Amino acid sequence: MFNPSVVKALRSLDDWHFEVLRVLEEKMRHYETVPTDVVARETEASKDLTLKRLSTLHRYGLVWAPRGRERGFVLNYNGLDAIALRSVVNRGILVSIGGRIGAGKESEVYEAVTAEEERVAVKFYRMGSRSFKKYKRHRDIALHSHLYMEASRLAAKRELEALQILYPRGIKVPRPIYRNRHLLVTELIRGIELAKVKAVDDPALLLEKVLRNLVEAFRAGVVNCDLSAYNVIYLPESGDVFLIDWPQWVSPDHATAKFYLRRDIDNVLEFFERRLHHRPNKDIMREILGENVY
Ligand SMILES: Nc1ncnc2c1ncn2[C@@H]1O[C@H](COP(=O)(O)OP(=O)(O)OP(=O)(O)O)[C@@H](O)[C@H]1O
Ligand SMILES: [Mg+2]
Repeated sequence: MFNPSVVKALRSLDDWHFEVLRVLEEKMRHYETVPTDVVARETEASKDLTLKRLSTLHRYGLVWAPRGRERGFVLNYNGLDAIALRSVVNRGILVSIGGRIGAGKESEVYEAVTAEEERVAVKFYRMGSRSFKKYKRHRDIALHSHLYMEASRLAAKRELEALQILYPRGIKVPRPIYRNRHLLVTELIRGIELAKVKAVDDPALLLEKVLRNLVEAFRAGVVNCDLSAYNVIYLPESGDVFLIDWPQWVSPDHATAKFYLRRDIDNVLEFFERRLHHRPNKDIMREILGENVY
């Protein structure tokens, strides 16, 4: 289930609380912690009322006061999730959010339902949030959280850009639907991560599909840079594959694009050899990838 305190906040907080969150989001670019006075001024409310709203948001776990309440507040990822989700709901994109279907180094992926009753995937970027748990330097990190949130927003934006280039060209990636802040809505792929697959009927054919998509992505102007069996989704029934996870892509004119492409290909080949005991011969590789790629 999605974070209960965020869900509860979406159900019970009013427009003014969200206005306060939006002001924090905006002002965090300029203040280490946003003073209550600033929030009061921006929302045209009294200081008392503003402090009350901030206390409520604090109780819901959507904001932090890393230097004490007197010094002001910052938004955390719960708060950012709340404003982003409210936006996608208000714009009529999503109607509900369900269980978690995946998690990576810097993100969490949930299932959701759109207004057209389509089940979709929603990826929430969480740059920096791991360091919160790891180092327990809560305060230091909270003071820089706007930088992490900015990085998360950028990652979602970059991933959307890649999907918008690739999907219309028929390359097997999830259909992009919508982005808001650090949140990206795409088609839900009902398959399994290739990394979890133990055996397939025709490994040669499967490998060819993965490599052909990679080459076509390269020709379309996109090198994934993080491809591995974890970022390939396999559909056992149809034998189809989808390539996911594109925030760190580069264009082929990037100085080390060819190096990244080789590394993506080698990751895939390594998996096929180790797990599926399949190694393609050089001629086939050249046939699929072309002289100038491999
Ligand atoms: N469109 C989708 N449909 C179904 N499942 C998905 C979809 N997108 C992601 N997932 C699941 O969520 C997992 C994590 O997603 P993804 O690989 O995009 O992010 P990530 O691994 O967190 O990225 P990062 O490289 O930043 O760590 C995937 O391995 C997959 O199981
Ligand atoms: Mg991944």
